[in-house]
Amino acid sequence: MQLSREKAEVRALVEETRRRGASVGLVPTMGYLHEGHLSLVRRARQENDYVVLSIFVNPTQFGPGEDLERYPRDLERDLELAEQAGVDLVFAPAAEEMYAPDHRTWVEVEELTRGLCGRSRPGHFRGVTTVVTKLFGICRPDRAYFGQKDAQQALVIRRMTRDLDLGAEVVVAPIVREADGLALSSRNVYLSEEERRAAPMLQRALCEAEVAVRAGERDAEAVRDQVRRRIEGVPGARVDYVELVSTQTLQSVERITGEVLLAVAVFFGKTRLIDNVIIDLR
Ligand code: PAJ
Repeated sequence: MQLSREKAEVRALVEETRRRGASVGLVPTMGYLHEGHLSLVRRARQENDYVVLSIFVNPTQFGPGEDLERYPRDLERDLELAEQAGVDLVFAPAAEEMYAPDHRTWVEVEELTRGLCGRSRPGHFRGVTTVVTKLFGICRPDRAYFGQKDAQQALVIRRMTRDLDLGAEVVVAPIVREADGLALSSRNVYLSEEERRAAPMLQRALCEAEVAVRAGERDAEAVRDQVRRRIEGVPGARVDYVELVSTQTLQSVERITGEVLLAVAVFFGKTRLIDNVIIDLR
């Protein structure tokens, strides 16, 4: 496994690999790797000849007052895990390597970024789509891997890739969870013991809602209310949003039909966790 901190070097290594006829898979991450990230790496390993893992805590996707400075980092451990999982090349640039001081270009996906996390985190998706476009430009992947954990992000990136003809196939992989149901996240380390014990409630609330929908509930507001009440009943939890939207448009629905995304964001103290379930009635 190779490690590079420079985009020119990564570009050259990938180019050379491509010339040999190898296919390239890219797994973009912010590091502090866990089984969720590694599931993407393994999938990429199966489907490509050459796997690039990027590790970059992208400053442009953090808002003022968010956790950019304290975001967990452990490159040494990440490199070990990446190597075990079969990564060929780790790209771990410094912020100055990624962004020139006079960087002035931004990629913006309209509409899909308006609701859900886009509403609570203005500018967040602009940072994500810009950095992913840059990573695609540097690594020129045949396939790029994203987790369903960040459902809106995956949809936004898929749309951007199509709209801008970026040429990569966007692959979205299922959410990896702890045994008690909590979705793995680098931010779970922020949770106190008490918060950690309460956090699996998110998934339970989503599961109960899915059961209600499968049993015939079609009123989206009733489902949102049920989930909100369930989460608000947990001491220390504060709902940021509970949304039930179309998986196509991410617009809020009134009646539940076809395929919908039920997504939540909840604060435990200062820590904001997200989770979701896709309910497919087709
Ligand atoms: P990060 O939060 O490090 O996540 C990297 C990738 O891992 C994302 O595609 C995310 O959806 C996926 N992932 C995280 N937790 C997961 C879980 N429990 N199960 C399955 N997949 C999971 O998302 C980002 O970084 C950044 O926004 C990035 C795309 C790298 C752009 O900076």
